[in-house]
Amino acid sequence: MIQTAARNCKFALFCLAPIKQAADMKLPGRAAPSSRRSFLRNLSLSIAAGSLVRPVRLGAQTPAASVNRFRFLVVNDIHHVSPECTPFMEALVLHMQEQGPVDFCLNVGDLADLGARESLVAVRDIFAALGAPVYPVPGNHDCDVGENTDLYSEIFPDRLNYSFAHRGWQFIGLDSTDGNKWNETRVGDAALSFLDTAARDLDRKAPTVLFTHFPMATDVRWASLSGADVLSRLDDLNLRCAFSGHFHARTERTHGRAAVLTNTCCSRVRGPHDDTTAEGYLVCTAHPDGRLDRVFIPYKPAEKQA
Ligand SMILES: [Fe+2]
Repeated sequence: MIQTAARNCKFALFCLAPIKQAADMKLPGRAAPSSRRSFLRNLSLSIAAGSLVRPVRLGAQTPAASVNRFRFLVVNDIHHVSPECTPFMEALVLHMQEQGPVDFCLNVGDLADLGARESLVAVRDIFAALGAPVYPVPGNHDCDVGENTDLYSEIFPDRLNYSFAHRGWQFIGLDSTDGNKWNETRVGDAALSFLDTAARDLDRKAPTVLFTHFPMATDVRWASLSGADVLSRLDDLNLRCAFSGHFHARTERTHGRAAVLTNTCCSRVRGPHDDTTAEGYLVCTAHPDGRLDRVFIPYKPAEKQA
C-alpha cells in the first residue's frame, strides 16, 4: 500500500517486494478454502474406499510468533561526501549483512554531506547491495543543492512522504526538511497533509512506525518545531516508534506508548554532536503484538578508531 503518485517506476516496484511478501504470506497450517475442500473430499473418498490413512509427521512446528516476527535496520546521517566514503559505506553494508537477514532498511536522512548528485547516487547504489529494500527520507544536507528536495527526489523517486505495510505493521516515511535549514525547521504543508491522509486511511490498530530526519521530540536539540504537531496528528493510529537522526546522538523520549528516538550518526566524515563517540545503527525486531526490540550495533571506520 504505497501511497505515492507514481507507482509504476522501477524503484517503486523494487520497494513493493515486502508488501507482496506480506500478501503472499499464509498462516502455518491454514490452507486456502478451495484446497481445504479438495483435501476433505479426497479424504472422504479415501476412507470410503478403505484405503490406509498413514500418520503424517509434520516436523518441528515454528510458533506463529516467530513466523510473523521480522527484523529491519535503521541507519541515519551517513553523510557521503567524496569517493573515499564509498569503501567505508560498502564495508558498512557488509557489516549490516553480518547481522543476519533483515526485511528492509530505513535510511533516515543526510545520505549526502553536501547534497551532491554523485553522493546521492553512490548511496543508492551502495545500499542496493544490501539485498533488501531500502526506504530513505531526506535530511537537510540532502537539500544543499538548490535548497530543496528536487535532486533527492530525482534519485529517490516517491520517497518524500509515503507509507508501506509489512507483515501487519505500517511504516510512514515523512519529509521533515525545511529547505536546507539545520535549525528551527518546520515540517511543510505537503508532509502535514500527507500525515492527515495517512491518519485517516491507514489501519488504526496495526502497529505503526514513523521515520523522519529531524527529531520529533520537542526537547531534543535541533528538533523540528513541528514535532508535537506531527506526533499529535498520528494519535488515532497505533504509533509504536518514531525514528529520527540529525542530532547525531542517541536520545529516547515517549509519546503515548511510542518510543520517540534519535540515533547517533554512522559516517566517515561526521561525528556525534553530544559528548559521546560511539557510532552505529539499529537492528530492530518487530513482534506481532506491537513490541519493537532495538539493538544498537556499533560501527566505526578504521580511520576513526585511532
Ligand atoms: Fe547529519
